[in-house]
Amino acid sequence: MSILVTGGAGFIGSHVIQALQSLGHSVVNIDEVNDYYYPEYKRENLALLDKHPFYEIDFCDAAAVDEVFSQHQFDCIVHLGARAGIRPSLVQPDLYTKVNVFGTTVLLNAAIKYHVPQFIFGSSSSVYGNTTPLPFNELAAVHDPVSPYAATKLAAEQIARSYHEQYGLATTILRFFTVYGERGRPDMAPYLFTEAVLTGQSIKKFGDGSSSRDYTYIADIVAGIVAAVQRPFPFEIINLGNHQAVSLNEFISTLEQITGKTAQLEQLPPQSGDVDHTLADITKAQKLLGYKPITSLSVGLERFVDWYYKERL
Ligand SMILES: NC(=O)c1ccc[n+]([C@@H]2O[C@H](COP(=O)([O-])OP(=O)(O)OC[C@H]3O[C@@H](n4cnc5c(N)ncnc54)[C@H](O)[C@@H]3O)[C@@H](O)[C@H]2O)c1
Repeated sequence: MSILVTGGAGFIGSHVIQALQSLGHSVVNIDEVNDYYYPEYKRENLALLDKHPFYEIDFCDAAAVDEVFSQHQFDCIVHLGARAGIRPSLVQPDLYTKVNVFGTTVLLNAAIKYHVPQFIFGSSSSVYGNTTPLPFNELAAVHDPVSPYAATKLAAEQIARSYHEQYGLATTILRFFTVYGERGRPDMAPYLFTEAVLTGQSIKKFGDGSSSRDYTYIADIVAGIVAAVQRPFPFEIINLGNHQAVSLNEFISTLEQITGKTAQLEQLPPQSGDVDHTLADITKAQKLLGYKPITSLSVGLERFVDWYYKERL
């Protein structure tokens, strides 16, 4: 297949491109390599990929996107490019809206104009907010996003839904749950905590440690995304999580066991914009995609810590 991946210089996108390339698909990559975090990390990600057409453009630039689509006939778009931080979205909600909502619409417009049959959108567990009962099920009515980031993901999901209704675009929305692993985002807790423990700095611990996350290892997420590429549906929303709730306290003690170091904690109040708990109901992913996450937090975190020792220390 010929597949457009957006955000392919980023954490999840670069892993997805590697997986698609290893299966023999031809991949085109759009990523503006912005400085949300170190662009040199993104360039390192790009350097690991097999040679492929790479367009260093902003996907909000409709003319530039049109130029890419005029040169390739895609069978599928995997839209992973985004402003992806929850807390920064409180500071720059306008930027988040532009990139995550308008930018997604630009890609949807191109998909229709160039008759691309399939669209996959990387959404987030954050759309479930604080009012959805656990475990989060795709049938839950979601209307209480806690952060602008979550609101932009929800808005983009709904715009994609409307394009399916109007134009019949086969669309799969994948809601990812806290993804971690090698090349992980340096603004996320698994990275920040590992960095702090290994360099003798204190971990900023927000709240009493009872908040919990469904941490999902990158290879499991990638397997779910690849399965979604291979199994188009008219329109589906599907959770990709690990189906294991891990409290912040448990996460820190797992990290201490793996590194053999004691974490120094800086106790801070809970963070605005964060949800209290996430936990994916993955029944639908198992049924529709054959999705089966196989990596426990201790195994995945050990791999991440090994990678961190090699690549970041
Ligand atoms: N990592 C997670 O835990 C997680 C959880 C839920 C959802 N997601 C979603 O998964 C997707 C990938 O996340 P990630 O963790 O790999 O983030 P990332 O920041 O590593 O990757 C996103 C990439 O998109 C690119 N990008 C951003 N704006 C762009 C624009 N206007 N034009 C072109 N490129 C642009 C960035 O340069 C970056 O390389 C995002 O949509 C994110 O919202 C991630």
